[in-house]
Amino acid sequence: MSALISPPAPGGAGHLVGRLLRSRLAAALATPHGVDRYLERFNPMWAAHEVRARVVSVHRETSGTDSAPVATLTLQPTSTWRGHRAGQHVLVGVELPGPEGRGKRHTRAFSISSAASAPGEQFTLTIRAHDEGQVSSYLVREAQPGTLLHLSQAQGEFTLVESPATPTISRLLFITGGSGITPAMSMVRTLLRDGYDGHAGRRVTFLHFARSPEDQIFADELAEIAAADNGVDVHLRYADQLFSEFELRRLVPDYRDTDTWLCGPAGLVELVKDAYTDPESSGGELSPRLRMEFFKPAVARAAAPGGEIEGEVSFTRSGATTAATGASLLEQAEELGLKPEFGCRMGICFSCTRTKSAGTVRNVLTGEESSLPDEEIRICVTAAAGDCHIDL
Ligand SMILES: Cc1cc2nc3c(=O)[nH]c(=O)nc-3n(C[C@H](O)[C@H](O)[C@H](O)COP(=O)(O)OP(=O)(O)OC[C@H]3O[C@@H](n4cnc5c(N)ncnc54)[C@H](O)[C@@H]3O)c2cc1C
Ligand code: FES
Repeated sequence: MSALISPPAPGGAGHLVGRLLRSRLAAALATPHGVDRYLERFNPMWAAHEVRARVVSVHRETSGTDSAPVATLTLQPTSTWRGHRAGQHVLVGVELPGPEGRGKRHTRAFSISSAASAPGEQFTLTIRAHDEGQVSSYLVREAQPGTLLHLSQAQGEFTLVESPATPTISRLLFITGGSGITPAMSMVRTLLRDGYDGHAGRRVTFLHFARSPEDQIFADELAEIAAADNGVDVHLRYADQLFSEFELRRLVPDYRDTDTWLCGPAGLVELVKDAYTDPESSGGELSPRLRMEFFKPAVARAAAPGGEIEGEVSFTRSGATTAATGASLLEQAEELGLKPEFGCRMGICFSCTRTKSAGTVRNVLTGEESSLPDEEIRICVTAAAGDCHIDL
């Protein structure tokens, strides 16, 4: 059994036990609870399908005396972890006390801050505790070695496009703000770990914005990277040193044709997007070289272009109703005082999935409308496009 805790060696006994536990026979024998429910009772780090992790250590990155503190958690995942590509994120589920003292699982997305990991290997998350933030505050302030977390596999396409070994003369550019540094740090750490030294002609420019030097995450490591002869230029900007296209052009003259990864607060993202928009193009075309990752959803509304929304939203279980405004159904429910479960609030974790029994809704990300009855929808990225009934 213990072979399940560490990555099973192909062809070894642990591998066979793993295959057996993942088989249809095992699934049938464990019905209705599933194999993992039984394994978890013996040892929370035993799993055949699910991914869980134990916190190995907690490192305080910033004290947060004048802002929200940041901590890096090192996690040992179960052997079911398939590893991650630099830049990907993971969904983290934690059990927090509910209204009647009963534990309730809350799920949030976090980018992985360590270099790309192999199956079963340890990795890190670097998390800023938001003042009112349930999950981030718990992970930064209360998690300790031994704390158990529920995980998804790594996901997301905000990743390096080439391996460090790929011969190329392209320059790479990372522009990040605040805790948005985490996926970029994973990419830079991967490049450096895997032997990138800048001497192949490819330079890396890392431009980061933080509130103050005290608030700077990974400060010591960034200073070491900046001082080393490795082809990585690190530029740290604080407080009122805001992003400017003029400065970016000075650092990377052909930035619009440079592979760029951008992750940070909405204000920074808007300024960078403006800089990457071709002024010559009629439709204001954004350079395809710019890749973006969002930690918070952009505000989206559901009306068809140029249209107004008319209709009533009925939350059938609670009996609450409200006029459709174009805001997401999650926001409309919260405005009425309802507390539906949510995770990422941007359509990636499925925690907010509810049944729409009738009516027309629009996906605020794609603009697609749907009037199918008894449809499963993610209410964080769905808005009413007319009358609709939601099982909430
Ligand atoms: C793909 C992805 C990767 C992410 N990676 C990281 C990461 O590496 N490190 C990290 O610290 N966070 C990261 N986040 C943000 C994280 O998922 C949570 O949104 C954040 O930690 C707040 O969750 P909470 O439960 O503490 O707050 P909640 O209880 O959900 O919200 C409480 C309050 O905080 C505000 N709030 C919620 N989310 C944010 C946010 N992202 N920024 C500012 N205010 C917010 C809300 O408006 C609300 O007022 C990532 C998000 C996504 C989608
Ligand atoms: S909250 Fe994550 S998909 Fe809706």
